[in-house]
Amino acid sequence: MRKKCVVCGREASIVIERARVGFCKEHFLEYYERMIKKTLKKSGFNGGKVMVAVSGGKDSMALMYALSNVKNELNIDLMALHIDLSIDNYSKESRNIFEKEIKKLNIDYIIVEARDYLGASIPEVVKLVRKPACSICGLVKRWIMNKIAYDMNYDYIATGHNLDDVSTYFLKAMFTYRDDDLLRGNEVISPPRPELKMVGRLRPQIFITEKENLFYCEVNEISYIDFECPLSKGALLKKYKTIWETALKLNPMSQYNFTRSILSIREKMHRDDIKLKPCKICGFPTTASNEICSFCKLKEKIKNSTIDREDR
Ligand code: AMP
Ligand code: FES
Ligand code: ZN
Ligand code: ZN
Repeated sequence: MRKKCVVCGREASIVIERARVGFCKEHFLEYYERMIKKTLKKSGFNGGKVMVAVSGGKDSMALMYALSNVKNELNIDLMALHIDLSIDNYSKESRNIFEKEIKKLNIDYIIVEARDYLGASIPEVVKLVRKPACSICGLVKRWIMNKIAYDMNYDYIATGHNLDDVSTYFLKAMFTYRDDDLLRGNEVISPPRPELKMVGRLRPQIFITEKENLFYCEVNEISYIDFECPLSKGALLKKYKTIWETALKLNPMSQYNFTRSILSIREKMHRDDIKLKPCKICGFPTTASNEICSFCKLKEKIKNSTIDREDR
Protein backbone atom coordinates (compact mmCIF):
# COMPACT_ATOMS: atom_id res chain seq x y z
CA MET A 1 0.00 0.00 0.00
CA ARG A 2 1.31 3.45 -0.89
CA LYS A 3 1.80 5.97 1.86
CA LYS A 4 -0.35 9.05 2.20
CA CYS A 5 0.75 12.64 2.86
CA VAL A 6 0.85 13.07 6.61
CA VAL A 7 -0.59 16.59 6.30
CA CYS A 8 -3.40 16.38 3.74
CA GLY A 9 -3.97 12.65 3.16
CA ARG A 10 -3.33 12.82 -0.60
CA GLU A 11 -1.05 10.20 -2.12
CA ALA A 12 2.53 10.79 -0.98
CA SER A 13 5.13 11.73 -3.62
CA ILE A 14 8.06 11.11 -1.27
CA VAL A 15 8.54 9.05 1.87
CA ILE A 16 11.03 10.20 4.49
CA GLU A 17 12.06 6.82 5.80
CA ARG A 18 13.87 7.96 8.93
CA ALA A 19 10.69 9.72 10.14
CA ARG A 20 8.36 7.12 8.58
CA VAL A 21 6.22 9.85 6.99
CA GLY A 22 5.10 10.66 3.48
CA PHE A 23 4.43 14.05 1.87
CA CYS A 24 2.72 15.29 -1.26
CA LYS A 25 4.81 17.78 -3.26
CA GLU A 26 3.28 20.86 -1.69
CA HIS A 27 3.70 19.68 1.88
CA PHE A 28 7.19 18.34 1.19
CA LEU A 29 8.31 21.87 0.29
CA GLU A 30 6.89 23.16 3.55
CA TYR A 31 8.56 20.36 5.50
CA TYR A 32 11.91 20.96 3.76
CA GLU A 33 12.03 24.68 4.46
CA ARG A 34 10.79 24.12 8.00
CA MET A 35 13.73 21.71 8.53
CA ILE A 36 16.21 24.33 7.30
CA LYS A 37 14.76 26.96 9.65
CA LYS A 38 14.52 24.60 12.60
CA THR A 39 18.07 23.28 12.16
CA LEU A 40 19.53 26.78 12.08
CA LYS A 41 17.44 28.21 14.91
CA LYS A 42 18.06 25.22 17.21
CA SER A 43 21.78 25.71 16.73
CA GLY A 44 21.56 29.30 17.92
CA PHE A 45 21.65 31.09 14.58
CA ASN A 46 19.96 34.44 14.75
CA GLY A 47 20.61 36.09 11.44
CA GLY A 48 23.45 37.88 9.69
CA LYS A 49 25.18 38.28 6.34
CA VAL A 50 25.33 34.87 4.68
CA MET A 51 27.21 33.95 1.52
CA VAL A 52 25.89 30.68 0.13
CA ALA A 53 28.55 28.68 -1.74
CA VAL A 54 26.97 27.07 -4.79
CA SER A 55 28.74 24.41 -6.84
CA GLY A 56 25.89 23.77 -9.29
CA GLY A 57 25.12 20.37 -7.72
CA LYS A 58 21.69 19.48 -6.33
CA ASP A 59 22.57 20.07 -2.66
CA SER A 60 23.84 23.63 -2.89
CA MET A 61 21.26 24.54 -5.57
CA ALA A 62 18.50 23.41 -3.20
CA LEU A 63 20.18 25.31 -0.37
CA MET A 64 20.40 28.53 -2.37
CA TYR A 65 16.68 28.34 -3.22
CA ALA A 66 15.58 27.38 0.27
CA LEU A 67 17.65 30.11 1.92
CA SER A 68 16.29 32.61 -0.53
CA ASN A 69 12.74 31.55 0.46
CA VAL A 70 13.35 31.73 4.22
CA LYS A 71 15.83 34.61 4.36
CA ASN A 72 13.38 37.17 5.68
CA GLU A 73 12.10 34.91 8.44
CA LEU A 74 15.67 34.14 9.48
CA ASN A 75 16.89 37.70 9.15
CA ILE A 76 19.49 36.77 6.56
CA ASP A 77 21.18 39.15 4.15
CA LEU A 78 21.92 36.61 1.40
CA MET A 79 24.44 36.50 -1.44
CA ALA A 80 25.66 33.58 -3.59
CA LEU A 81 29.19 32.59 -4.60
CA HIS A 82 30.27 30.22 -7.36
CA ILE A 83 33.90 29.22 -7.83
CA ASP A 84 34.86 28.22 -11.36
CA LEU A 85 37.44 25.46 -10.92
CA SER A 86 38.32 25.13 -14.66
CA ILE A 87 37.68 21.38 -14.63
CA ASP A 88 36.83 20.96 -18.33
CA ASN A 89 33.16 20.66 -19.26
CA TYR A 90 32.19 19.92 -15.70
CA SER A 91 33.08 23.46 -14.60
CA LYS A 92 31.63 25.06 -17.74
CA GLU A 93 28.33 23.29 -17.25
CA SER A 94 28.25 24.01 -13.49
CA ARG A 95 28.84 27.71 -14.10
CA ASN A 96 26.15 27.86 -16.82
CA ILE A 97 23.61 26.21 -14.55
CA PHE A 98 24.47 28.52 -11.68
CA GLU A 99 24.17 31.59 -13.93
CA LYS A 100 20.84 30.41 -15.29
CA GLU A 101 19.31 29.63 -11.89
CA ILE A 102 20.62 32.61 -9.93
CA LYS A 103 18.85 34.95 -12.35
CA LYS A 104 15.52 33.53 -11.20
CA LEU A 105 16.23 34.71 -7.66
CA ASN A 106 16.42 38.19 -6.34
CA ILE A 107 19.85 37.87 -4.72
CA ASP A 108 23.32 39.26 -5.46
CA TYR A 109 26.01 36.89 -6.63
CA ILE A 110 29.66 36.65 -7.49
CA ILE A 111 31.57 34.22 -9.71
CA VAL A 112 35.32 33.84 -9.27
CA GLU A 113 37.91 31.65 -10.95
CA ALA A 114 40.14 29.51 -8.75
CA ARG A 115 43.07 29.94 -11.15
CA ASP A 116 43.12 33.70 -10.51
CA TYR A 117 43.90 33.02 -6.86
CA LEU A 118 46.06 29.95 -7.27
CA GLY A 119 48.06 30.73 -10.39
CA ALA A 120 46.95 27.50 -12.11
CA SER A 121 43.81 25.49 -12.73
CA ILE A 122 42.72 22.60 -10.49
CA PRO A 123 43.51 19.91 -13.13
CA GLU A 124 47.02 21.38 -13.53
CA VAL A 125 47.60 21.39 -9.78
CA VAL A 126 46.28 17.85 -9.41
CA LYS A 127 48.91 16.66 -11.89
CA LEU A 128 51.60 18.47 -9.92
CA VAL A 129 50.77 17.30 -6.41
CA ARG A 130 50.58 13.69 -5.29
CA LYS A 131 47.40 13.97 -3.26
CA PRO A 132 43.78 13.02 -4.02
CA ALA A 133 42.15 15.61 -6.31
CA CYS A 134 39.27 16.22 -3.90
CA SER A 135 41.55 17.06 -1.01
CA ILE A 136 43.51 19.65 -3.05
CA CYS A 137 40.33 21.05 -4.55
CA GLY A 138 38.70 21.16 -1.10
CA LEU A 139 41.51 23.16 0.48
CA VAL A 140 41.54 25.63 -2.44
CA LYS A 141 37.75 26.10 -2.25
CA ARG A 142 37.79 26.61 1.51
CA TRP A 143 40.52 29.25 1.29
CA ILE A 144 38.79 31.12 -1.55
CA MET A 145 35.38 31.01 0.15
CA ASN A 146 36.83 32.38 3.37
CA LYS A 147 38.82 35.10 1.60
CA ILE A 148 35.92 36.35 -0.50
CA ALA A 149 33.40 36.28 2.33
CA TYR A 150 35.88 37.92 4.73
CA ASP A 151 36.86 40.66 2.27
CA MET A 152 33.19 41.37 1.57
CA ASN A 153 32.34 41.52 5.27
CA TYR A 154 30.12 38.45 5.39
CA ASP A 155 29.51 36.68 8.73
CA TYR A 156 28.89 33.17 7.39
CA ILE A 157 29.46 30.89 4.43
CA ALA A 158 26.64 28.38 3.96
CA THR A 159 27.48 25.07 2.28
CA GLY A 160 25.39 22.19 0.98
CA HIS A 161 26.80 19.41 3.16
CA ASN A 162 23.99 16.87 3.61
CA LEU A 163 23.31 13.97 5.96
CA ASP A 164 24.87 11.44 3.58
CA ASP A 165 28.08 13.51 3.40
CA VAL A 166 28.45 14.23 7.09
CA SER A 167 27.55 10.73 8.32
CA THR A 168 30.02 9.19 5.87
CA TYR A 169 32.72 11.64 6.84
CA PHE A 170 32.32 10.56 10.47
CA LEU A 171 32.19 6.90 9.52
CA LYS A 172 35.39 7.20 7.50
CA ALA A 173 37.08 9.07 10.34
CA MET A 174 36.29 6.16 12.68
CA PHE A 175 37.28 3.44 10.26
CA THR A 176 40.60 5.12 9.53
CA TYR A 177 41.27 6.22 13.14
CA ARG A 178 41.29 9.92 12.35
CA ASP A 179 39.81 10.80 15.68
CA ASP A 180 40.49 14.52 15.29
CA ASP A 181 38.11 14.55 12.33
CA LEU A 182 35.36 13.37 14.67
CA LEU A 183 35.90 16.24 17.04
CA ARG A 184 35.77 19.22 14.71
CA GLY A 185 33.87 20.64 11.76
CA ASN A 186 30.67 19.40 10.22
CA GLU A 187 28.41 21.00 12.79
CA VAL A 188 25.40 23.12 11.84
CA ILE A 189 27.04 26.35 12.87
CA SER A 190 30.66 27.34 13.39
CA PRO A 191 30.67 30.92 14.67
CA PRO A 192 32.70 33.62 12.93
CA ARG A 193 36.10 34.43 14.47
CA PRO A 194 36.95 37.85 13.03
CA GLU A 195 40.10 38.15 15.18
CA LEU A 196 41.45 35.20 13.16
CA LYS A 197 40.02 36.45 9.84
CA MET A 198 37.78 33.42 9.88
CA VAL A 199 34.25 33.62 8.53
CA GLY A 200 31.62 31.44 10.26
CA ARG A 201 30.07 28.35 8.67
CA LEU A 202 26.48 27.26 8.28
CA ARG A 203 25.55 23.71 7.23
CA PRO A 204 21.74 23.89 7.28
CA GLN A 205 21.26 20.56 5.44
CA ILE A 206 23.19 18.20 7.71
CA PHE A 207 19.98 16.47 8.79
CA ILE A 208 18.57 16.36 5.25
CA THR A 209 19.45 13.56 2.82
CA GLU A 210 20.65 13.72 -0.77
CA LYS A 211 17.34 12.22 -1.84
CA GLU A 212 15.40 15.09 -0.23
CA ASN A 213 17.65 17.71 -1.86
CA LEU A 214 17.11 16.05 -5.22
CA PHE A 215 13.36 16.01 -4.73
CA TYR A 216 13.35 19.66 -3.64
CA CYS A 217 15.14 20.55 -6.91
CA GLU A 218 12.73 18.46 -8.97
CA VAL A 219 9.57 19.88 -7.41
CA ASN A 220 10.85 23.45 -7.80
CA GLU A 221 12.16 22.72 -11.32
CA ILE A 222 15.66 23.81 -10.34
CA SER A 223 18.36 22.59 -12.75
CA TYR A 224 21.55 21.13 -11.35
CA ILE A 225 24.64 19.43 -12.68
CA ASP A 226 23.84 15.76 -12.77
CA PHE A 227 27.17 14.32 -13.76
CA GLU A 228 30.13 13.63 -11.55
CA CYS A 229 33.28 15.71 -11.37
CA PRO A 230 35.76 13.75 -13.55
CA LEU A 231 38.52 14.24 -10.97
CA SER A 232 36.59 12.75 -8.09
CA LYS A 233 36.01 9.32 -9.66
CA GLY A 234 37.04 6.59 -7.26
CA ALA A 235 37.13 8.95 -4.25
CA LEU A 236 37.31 6.96 -1.03
CA LEU A 237 34.45 8.82 0.62
CA LYS A 238 32.09 7.62 -2.11
CA LYS A 239 33.04 4.01 -1.45
CA TYR A 240 32.34 4.45 2.26
CA LYS A 241 28.92 5.91 1.41
CA THR A 242 27.76 2.52 0.14
CA ILE A 243 27.93 1.16 3.70
CA TRP A 244 24.78 3.09 4.51
CA GLU A 245 22.73 1.01 2.08
CA THR A 246 23.03 -1.97 4.42
CA ALA A 247 22.72 0.02 7.63
CA LEU A 248 19.59 1.83 6.45
CA LYS A 249 17.90 -1.44 5.51
CA LEU A 250 18.50 -2.62 9.04
CA ASN A 251 17.38 0.64 10.65
CA PRO A 252 16.09 3.64 8.63
CA MET A 253 17.12 5.97 11.45
CA SER A 254 20.69 4.67 11.69
CA GLN A 255 22.33 7.40 9.61
CA TYR A 256 20.48 10.21 11.34
CA ASN A 257 21.06 8.79 14.83
CA PHE A 258 24.71 8.07 14.15
CA THR A 259 25.33 11.69 13.10
CA ARG A 260 23.32 13.11 15.98
CA SER A 261 25.17 10.88 18.45
CA ILE A 262 28.57 12.13 17.38
CA LEU A 263 27.49 15.77 17.47
CA SER A 264 25.89 15.30 20.87
CA ILE A 265 28.89 13.46 22.37
CA ARG A 266 31.04 16.33 21.18
CA GLU A 267 28.90 18.86 22.98
CA LYS A 268 29.20 16.90 26.23
CA MET A 269 32.96 16.62 26.20
CA HIS A 270 35.67 19.11 26.83
CA ARG A 271 37.54 19.92 23.64
CA ASP A 272 40.74 21.91 23.61
CA ASP A 273 40.67 24.72 21.09
CA ILE A 274 42.91 24.04 18.13
CA LYS A 275 45.72 26.53 17.97
CA LEU A 276 45.23 28.75 14.96
CA LYS A 277 47.72 31.38 13.90
CA PRO A 278 47.68 33.85 11.00
CA CYS A 279 49.52 32.53 7.95
CA LYS A 280 52.74 34.52 7.48
CA ILE A 281 51.95 34.98 3.80
CA CYS A 282 48.19 35.48 3.40
CA GLY A 283 47.13 36.32 6.96
CA PHE A 284 44.32 33.75 7.04
CA PRO A 285 44.33 31.15 9.84
CA THR A 286 46.45 28.01 9.82
CA THR A 287 47.40 25.18 12.20
CA ALA A 288 50.78 24.63 10.51
CA SER A 289 53.75 24.82 12.88
CA ASN A 290 55.74 26.90 10.38
CA GLU A 291 52.76 29.29 10.14
CA ILE A 292 52.36 28.96 6.38
CA CYS A 293 48.93 27.71 5.34
CA SER A 294 48.37 24.82 2.93
CA PHE A 295 46.99 27.18 0.30
CA CYS A 296 50.12 29.36 0.32
CA LYS A 297 52.35 26.25 0.27
CA LEU A 298 50.47 25.02 -2.76
CA LYS A 299 50.80 28.39 -4.46
CA GLU A 300 54.53 28.38 -3.81
CA LYS A 301 54.83 24.93 -5.35
CA ILE A 302 52.96 26.11 -8.45
CA LYS A 303 55.22 29.14 -8.76
CA ASN A 304 58.29 26.95 -8.72
CA SER A 305 56.81 24.40 -11.10
CA THR A 306 57.01 23.90 -14.81
CA ILE A 307 53.30 24.60 -15.38
CA ASP A 308 53.42 26.63 -18.58
CA ARG A 309 53.45 30.30 -17.66
CA GLU A 310 51.33 31.09 -20.70
CA ASP A 311 48.54 28.99 -19.21
CA ARG A 312 48.38 30.86 -15.90
P1 AMP B 1 32.21 19.33 -1.87
O1 AMP B 1 33.43 19.76 -1.15
O2 AMP B 1 32.38 19.26 -3.35
O3 AMP B 1 31.54 18.14 -1.27
O4 AMP B 1 31.18 20.52 -1.68
C1 AMP B 1 30.68 20.88 -0.43
C2 AMP B 1 29.99 22.21 -0.53
O5 AMP B 1 30.94 23.22 -0.89
C3 AMP B 1 28.92 22.32 -1.61
O6 AMP B 1 27.69 21.84 -1.16
C4 AMP B 1 28.88 23.80 -1.88
O7 AMP B 1 28.15 24.49 -0.90
C5 AMP B 1 30.34 24.18 -1.74
N1 AMP B 1 31.02 24.13 -3.05
C6 AMP B 1 31.60 23.06 -3.66
N2 AMP B 1 32.11 23.39 -4.87
C7 AMP B 1 31.87 24.71 -5.04
C8 AMP B 1 32.14 25.65 -6.09
N3 AMP B 1 32.79 25.29 -7.19
N4 AMP B 1 31.72 26.92 -5.92
C9 AMP B 1 31.08 27.31 -4.79
N5 AMP B 1 30.81 26.46 -3.77
C10 AMP B 1 31.18 25.19 -3.89
FE1 FES C 1 36.80 19.29 -6.58
FE2 FES C 1 36.03 17.57 -8.37
S1 FES C 1 34.99 19.35 -7.68
S2 FES C 1 37.86 17.52 -7.29
ZN1 ZN D 1 -0.05 17.03 1.44
ZN1 ZN E 1 48.39 31.47 3.61
